[in-house]
Parts: sequence; structure tokens; C-alpha cells
Amino acid sequence: MDLFEYQARDLFAKHGVPVLAGEVIDTPEAAREATERLGGKSVVKAQVKVGGRGKAGGVKLAATPDEAVARATDILGMDIKGHTVHKVMIAETAPEIVEEYYVSYLLDRTNRTFLAMASVAGGMDIEEVAATTPEKLAKVPVNANEGVSIEKAREIVALAQFPAEVAEKVAEVLVTLWKTFVAEDALLVEVNPLAKVASGEVIALDGKVSLDENAEFRQPSHEELVDKAAANPLEAAAKEKGLNYVKLDGEVGIIGNGAGLVMSTLDVVAYAGENHGGVKPANFLDIGGGASAAVMANGLEIILGDPDVKSVFVNVFGGITACDEVANGIVQALQLLKDKGEEVTKPLVVRLDGNNAELGRKILSDANHPLVQRVDTMDGAADKAAELAAAAK
Ligand SMILES: Nc1ncnc2c1ncn2[C@@H]1O[C@H](COP(=O)(O)OP(=O)(O)OP(=O)(O)O)[C@@H](O)[C@H]1O
Ligand SMILES: [Mg+2]
Repeated sequence: MDLFEYQARDLFAKHGVPVLAGEVIDTPEAAREATERLGGKSVVKAQVKVGGRGKAGGVKLAATPDEAVARATDILGMDIKGHTVHKVMIAETAPEIVEEYYVSYLLDRTNRTFLAMASVAGGMDIEEVAATTPEKLAKVPVNANEGVSIEKAREIVALAQFPAEVAEKVAEVLVTLWKTFVAEDALLVEVNPLAKVASGEVIALDGKVSLDENAEFRQPSHEELVDKAAANPLEAAAKEKGLNYVKLDGEVGIIGNGAGLVMSTLDVVAYAGENHGGVKPANFLDIGGGASAAVMANGLEIILGDPDVKSVFVNVFGGITACDEVANGIVQALQLLKDKGEEVTKPLVVRLDGNNAELGRKILSDANHPLVQRVDTMDGAADKAAELAAAAK
């Protein structure tokens, strides 16, 4: 999960990375009071989860509270690379900036380690520095067990050739930034620029943080960092039910057990859809190994609640949970939904194979639900589901 700059700033402050005061607002008028609280001047910064805000006109200095209102009026509602600005941060103005540096930590999957990156050529696009003057970007692997001690930080600072007068200050920031990275279960923490100001202090003026969602269970405070306004409502509802669901832009709802099977189901449906006016899968949904009736009902409820869905393909390979249990799950799920007043109105194509397939198929045939069709091959079922979706379009 990527954070907004103001959220990154808050996490930095919590762990002792030097930052300036700042508050987030969503109306131009609020910029006035916020700027007054900062002593009458401020920096108005667009809060969007995309880089290059400054270049796009999303970072402006305001010398007075009135100017802050004017700049906030300009920036709120602005489109930056397809992201609409709904919030701005009113930040304290840094005292005279002398130099701008770059520091970050990230998970380096390729090398199965963490990586520190640092450069004295900060402030600008670091990708460009890496591409055009790679010697200016120091990259130092960080061992997960050893982390970043002050000695390790000094090593990074030396490799990046920071000027002697800031070396120790930058090393201290690197230590607190590593603490932030570990304590918050981050995948990325980046400071660009880390500014050296006239007094000789270094301050993080911009922060980018990406948190590891797999660590949610031990990071209860991260819940409030989720941008609920931006979340897809179906994905949010699925998440609440503990379902592994991703919304796509097609018309055939997909339910399967096992991520691999669901992925190949998406491919097969997309392929079959080419013969039926180009219909495509509407979602990814893996209900996992133990597909109980309740889980099946939850999954169907989410998929049938998607107005784009015209037909549903339930593709199950019976393993530990055998096909007869899954078939019973489907029958019960349809009843559960009916009892809740959400009777199924879209056609369902079910393909059962694997453990106890014959028994499962019999259960479905006996239930004889008017909207449920059984097709026993994956290709055949995909074709049928695509055909039904195309007919209902
Ligand atoms: N609080 C501040 N006081 C003074 N100058 C600032 C402040 N914040 C940012 N700046 C200046 O504005 C420049 C751009 O700001 P910032 O790094 O936050 O945005 P950006 O890099 O354009 O955005 P992104 O990181 O999304 O690409 C900084 O390099 C710095 O020179
Ligand atoms: Mg920046």
C-alpha cells in the first residue's frame, strides 16, 4: 500500500526522522488558518500517489495566508498524471535550502535482500540520475538480521560521497529511517529531497512510503492509512469478507479454487470470449481450498453484486475439499442468497472435476436449479459462460 506524502511525513516524525510541520486539508479556505499557524507562509503541496508533482505545478510556495488560499484553489482538483488532487498538505517552509540529497531503503527481491540507496544528486528525478549518471547513486545491500547500525550508515554515506560537514547528520537520518522501515513493515521508504538547510541541519522535505500489506495483521494502526475513497467498492466488500478478489473490466464473473486454477480460468475465458463478441473475465476470485457453502455464498454475492457481470463461471477442481462438498456448497449458497432476498438472476456455469466429481455433478443435477448449467470440461464451460454473457450484453 502506497502512502500519501503527509502520511509518510507522519510516520517519519513518529520515528525521529527530521521533518517540517505540515497538515493536510481539502478546502482552499482551510489553507489560510493552516498557513497562519505556520507563521504566515507555507508550501502548498498536492497529495497524489504519483511522482513529479512539482514539475506538474503541484508544489507552490505561498508567502502569505491569502496566497496559500489562492495556490490551494489552483491545486485542489488539478489532474496530475491521471490522479485528481483531493487533498493538499500545507507544509512549513524550509529555511534556505543549500543542497538536496536522496536516500531510500527498499526490498530488493531480485537479490533477496534489502537495499540502501543514497545520492548527493537529490531533489530531481532519481530514475534519471540512475540512468544517466549511475556513479552518483550508491547502492548498498542491507542484511535483514544486521540492519543499519551507525557504522553501516557511515559506510553508505561514504560510498555516496556526502560532504564531510553533513556526513554524520545524514548517517543519523539513515539509522532512524531504517528503524521506520522495519517498525512499519515497509517495502519502500524514500526521502527526496533530504535537504541541507543554511543552518547545516538536514530535513526530509518529501517522503514516499510503501507498506507491506501482508503485515497488516500486526500493524493495526495501518488500517487508518487506507485511502477508502479510492478503493473499488466491490474489492473493499470482498476484503471485508476475507476473499481474494480483484475487479477486472469484463462481463464473465469467475469463481475458482486455487490461485493457479483461477489464473488459467481467466485466460481460457478471455480466449473463449474472442468467439463471442470479445467478452472478458469480470474479476479474479479464489475461494481457496476449503470452499464451504458460506464462502461460496460470499463469493457469489460479491460477483453477482457487480453490475458488469452477465454470467458466472464456477470452476472447481476437487482436492482436499471434494466436489460433492463444493456442489452442496453451491446449492446451499443459492438458497442462502434467496433467503437473504438476493436471489440469483444471472446464469451460472459450473464445471466440477477432480475428487468425487461424479457425485458432485449428480448433486447439481438433482438440485435442478433453473439458472445453473453443468459443463464438464474447462474449455466447454468457458465457452458456455462467454456465450451467455454475450447474449445478455
Ligand atoms: N517544505 C518545503 N519548503 C521549501 N521547499 C520545499 C518544501 N517542500 C518541497 N520543497 C521544494 O520543492 C521541491 C519539490 O518538492 P517535492 O520533492 O515534495 O515534490 P516532487 O519531488 O515534485 O514530487 P514527487 O516526489 O511526487 O516527484 C523540492 O525539491 C524542494 O526544493
Ligand atoms: Mg520529491
